[in-house]
Amino acid sequence: PVMDDFAGRQQRERRLAQRLGIEHCTIVPGDSSAATGSLSGMAKAGAKVLAERLPVGKSTIAVMGGHTLATLGQVLTPTLAMNRQLLFVPARGGVGESPAIQANTVCAQMAQHTNSTFRQLYIPEQLTTATYQQLFAEPSIHEVLQLIDRSSVVVHGIGQALDMAERRKMAPHAVADLTAAHAVGEAFGYFFDDEGHVVSKIPRIGLEIDDLAKKPVVIAVAGGSEKGAAIAAYMQLAPSQTWLVTDDGAADFVLKR
Ligand code: F6P
Repeated sequence: PVMDDFAGRQQRERRLAQRLGIEHCTIVPGDSSAATGSLSGMAKAGAKVLAERLPVGKSTIAVMGGHTLATLGQVLTPTLAMNRQLLFVPARGGVGESPAIQANTVCAQMAQHTNSTFRQLYIPEQLTTATYQQLFAEPSIHEVLQLIDRSSVVVHGIGQALDMAERRKMAPHAVADLTAAHAVGEAFGYFFDDEGHVVSKIPRIGLEIDDLAKKPVVIAVAGGSEKGAAIAAYMQLAPSQTWLVTDDGAADFVLKR
């Protein structure tokens, strides 16, 4: 029966990847949206996927924030960097998260847990587009932006649109716009609807969804039944080389609809 369970899970993972139009899925047991749910299964599975997918030698890894990615950061170990030189950079700046789960923090944690190096992007939030443009030109910021641009690995989360709007304390009119546009999900500061159409974008700095196409390794870590619609929506935008680490909660949602 243990073997059957394993074979059954693998088959479900293949079906999910096919349904989402991406290269690979890992499904861990449980539903992280449930009251008793936890992010640690996905975090451990995410660490395994990184160990499997990171090439030997030098890699620059661009990471996003959020609770899921922060949990992944906690479970990484120096083994990951045993025959590798890893440089962690935040994928984006200024998307508005509390300090403990900002991309900067997650990136520093991942570096610390693996005895690797990291760089930070110090960008104030709620800036006008004109100010962002000026910041691009600042040498210290420009250098990190170049590292992000040249990164070969991206690790990111996916969230529900209105949850993320609230978490980022977006203005009521902006939230109303998202609702009117039927936004269901968010990733990288982009909000999108059920069909994967981008309906809004937070002015910010760093990686763009279009840049993902040229990244050899793209790993999304997101799960929970409540995120099912957001994950399915995002995967219509996602580059096909994406690997998703998720849980039964989200997988059931996608496979049953
Ligand atoms: O704000 C960073 C971010 O990665 C978002 O792009 C994503 O929607 C969210 O965090 C996921 O957060 P969590 O793992 O806490 O659900």
